[in-house]
Amino acid sequence: MGVEKVNYKNKLKDKDEDIYILALESSCDETAASVNKNGLEILSNVVSSQVDLHKKFGGVVPEIASRKHLELLLPVIDQALAEAGIEFKDLDAVASTYGPGLVGGLLVTLTAAKTVSLALNIPLIGVNHIAGHIYANFIANPEIEKPLICLTISGGHTDLLYFEDLRGYQILGRTIDDAAGEAFDKISRFLGLGYPGGPAIEKAALSGNKTAIYFPRADLGDSYDFSFSGLKTAVMNYVNNEEQRGNEIDQNDLAASFQEAVVDSLASNLIKAVQEYKVESVVISGGVAANQRLREVIAERLKEHNLELYYPPLELCTDNAAMIGAVAYYQYLERDFAPLSLSAEPSLKL
Ligand code: KG4
Ligand code: ZN
Repeated sequence: MGVEKVNYKNKLKDKDEDIYILALESSCDETAASVNKNGLEILSNVVSSQVDLHKKFGGVVPEIASRKHLELLLPVIDQALAEAGIEFKDLDAVASTYGPGLVGGLLVTLTAAKTVSLALNIPLIGVNHIAGHIYANFIANPEIEKPLICLTISGGHTDLLYFEDLRGYQILGRTIDDAAGEAFDKISRFLGLGYPGGPAIEKAALSGNKTAIYFPRADLGDSYDFSFSGLKTAVMNYVNNEEQRGNEIDQNDLAASFQEAVVDSLASNLIKAVQEYKVESVVISGGVAANQRLREVIAERLKEHNLELYYPPLELCTDNAAMIGAVAYYQYLERDFAPLSLSAEPSLKL
């Protein structure tokens, strides 16, 4: 027996009416739910982090993550609705991340969202997680001027994008190997600094000398692409060589020098794009955008171009559902709805 086709057409709203969306996100190690009003207004944004659970393994264990998401999702949804003062019957649509991410986690929110869609007879909206990170900026700064350049840097992606307006974008460059956050995580694990790597490296770097060791920056010619695997190898070679020589390594100097190389690569490519495209604003998003040194270097280099750097507040930089709800609102206006057969796409691209 097939599932009856959902018919919600008579309930669809237009952009001059208030639209309430419940958004769900559990693509990695945060279980999250939010209620957005008209996209950028966040009525609630509940995130339950599993970071402590995965710390002892030095990274996210997918099977543990998906079991935990299953346990946490319903209480997180209840809390999101309660904090927003919204009941299920008030919702106009339900959204879930459907990729990229860990398949087990993606399936948890996707299944929940389908259930809500079917039970309430409201549209299901499948959202790309990376788009979510970008739109996190627009929640924090709704008046941001377009066109703009956006650098989205996370554990799984490093993308440089050009936005003419909020409805579409052009990909200028992306990583050809490791994502920026992945490089932080791998080097942190290699140095025994723990997980997640970004904050651990940043903390160690605060007491280190960033010019102590010069690590190479990938040169990819005219392209806007990024590469971090050569840097990762250079750090590992440096440590192995020093150990063989019986030299002591200053972890903090190493962390600071590595961080400087990542920051320099990211900032240089971004500035190159700013010089070529006439933009009004520059934004950074994704977990790595939380890095203070990165913000400082980019902001400094943008001064020459009379541009200000925008970034979301910390709670919107890392994974959350509000950013998914923001994207979902624009999809709602475009009537970009998903069928109940929508599958999780672990390697989904922008
Ligand atoms: O966006 P996010 O929470 O999840 C993904 O979609 O991947 O990003 C997580 C990534 C991790 O690789 C983490 O090490 C990195 O962001 N990160 C940082 C910082 N905080 C988180 N990287 C550098 N500096 C930070 N302060
Ligand atoms: Zn993310």
